[in-house]
Amino acid sequence: MASSTALISDTEAWKDLKGHVEDIKKIHLRDLMTDANRCQSMMMEFDGLLLDYSRQRATLETVDKLLNLAKAAQLTEKISRMFNGEHINSTENRSVLHVALRAPKDAVIKADGKNVVPEVWNVLDKIKEFSEKIRSGSWVGTTGKPLKDVIAIGIGGSFLGPLFVHTALQTDPEALESAKGRQLRFLANIDPVDVARNINGLNPETTLVVVVSKTFTTAETMLNARTLREWITAALGASAVAKHMVAVSTNLALVEKFGIDPNNAFAFWDWVGGRYSVCSAVGVLPLSLQYGFSVVEKFLKGASSIDQHFQSTPIEKNIPVLLGLLSVWNVSFLGYPARAILPYSQALEKFAPHIQQVSMESNGKGVSIDGLPLPFETGEIDFGEPGTNGQHSFYQLIHQGRVIPCDFIGIVKSQQPVYLKGEVVSNHDELMSNFFAQPDALAYGKTPEQLQKENVSENLIPHKTFSGNRPSLSLLLPELTAYNVGQLLAIYEHRVAVQGFVWGINSFDQWGVELGKVLATHVRKQLHSSRTQGTTLEGFNYSTTTLLKRYLETSSEPQM
Ligand code: F6P
Repeated sequence: MASSTALISDTEAWKDLKGHVEDIKKIHLRDLMTDANRCQSMMMEFDGLLLDYSRQRATLETVDKLLNLAKAAQLTEKISRMFNGEHINSTENRSVLHVALRAPKDAVIKADGKNVVPEVWNVLDKIKEFSEKIRSGSWVGTTGKPLKDVIAIGIGGSFLGPLFVHTALQTDPEALESAKGRQLRFLANIDPVDVARNINGLNPETTLVVVVSKTFTTAETMLNARTLREWITAALGASAVAKHMVAVSTNLALVEKFGIDPNNAFAFWDWVGGRYSVCSAVGVLPLSLQYGFSVVEKFLKGASSIDQHFQSTPIEKNIPVLLGLLSVWNVSFLGYPARAILPYSQALEKFAPHIQQVSMESNGKGVSIDGLPLPFETGEIDFGEPGTNGQHSFYQLIHQGRVIPCDFIGIVKSQQPVYLKGEVVSNHDELMSNFFAQPDALAYGKTPEQLQKENVSENLIPHKTFSGNRPSLSLLLPELTAYNVGQLLAIYEHRVAVQGFVWGINSFDQWGVELGKVLATHVRKQLHSSRTQGTTLEGFNYSTTTLLKRYLETSSEPQM
């Protein structure tokens, strides 16, 4: 077993897997797929979901060795420590309890000795009451009009998760029905173009602005919040803030200082990491305003179902654990640096961008949780697009260029089925034909011999050959209701945590985003003094000085 300060790469289990890579290199996926027993063992079902990881470059022996690695990393203990509210985010001295955000009312989950579930439900009940008031029109704007449009301001974790869930629910029949006549928009980028796009076509009289920021200090969010406060007060007067602006934050003192009534603030807690916060008021408030609390509650229940599975299922049958271990295998042993997230569902178009933050901000680390430099890489480059759009964009590289392990996510029942009379299949079947075909194309490829048999001309054979042996996994969801969206979210959140637990890193801090923010502060000060006092540029290198000079000399920014 690895002691808390040892690196996982020093364990026998890690070394055993390193040696095992050579065995795997000798076997083509084409051959692995002929073993029906192996494939059957690589299917996992839970709560309506079916995971098939038979197209991973792994044998049953590989899986056993990965399970040994999990034991060496004390994975089960680490999962328990997370659920028990221990301060596993050691560099920030915090618990990691996003699971408490979706726990049933009678659950007991403690942080620092105190059950946090009642506090969670106090906020959920407050959101339910407030969103019903807004949706029913019993809370109106200053001119007496109902607030039918919502702009949620936030960035990073205070934006990507809610945007993903909103996009996923937009075409779900139940959610669609309950959102009739309402709009939800997200303002994230500090680029004033994003402000212009968000307010385009909206009237301050009928708009509610939700400022979402864990810290309430994030430069982008606060400037956007001031900009929309100006938009509201210019049209409706200073007192309109009380009716047209609310906030979600852990920093209620700064919310009040900003001018938002603390009664109109929705709290969350430092044990919720920003990128793990979609199940807090960060997501629940804007989504409840749009879809009603009862729809959003189903989303929370779906996530909670996976939490219980993750917490209590033995590791060999535990979906997030298996997914996490396979990712570690792909990154650290097979040396694949990226992962493609490919939902065959337009409703999941914002899933990859959300998982990008969850995964890359969590696991893109250079040192162990104890601060030791890592002799191996952690994290992967996550990217993705919905199928079939991706097929017509970057799949060429995935099929014949670099090897990128792919997650294929498919839905059995479409949210919006269409069948045209006379067509061979329904539109959804057409989509899903691709979902079923692509993993085999990647795994099997096409040999020169096959091409010769098809009378392909000699000069084209090298171009039309597919090496195959490219790993993927398939996750099939029964449908895409709010409940299933919650399941999907929690599977990926926990998978990322598993990877971090095995690598022995802190997946819950994000020090790597700080340096850029500090340097931007120097530039901001310089821009201000250059524009207002004509101060010459100072303290920047040749490159930045040249760029800044060009920017200042040629920019047409309004004068201060
Ligand atoms: O980009 C860094 C980060 O701290 C993220 O982790 C976080 O989700 C985002 O900024 C927004 O932070 P806040 O919710 O405090 O505005």
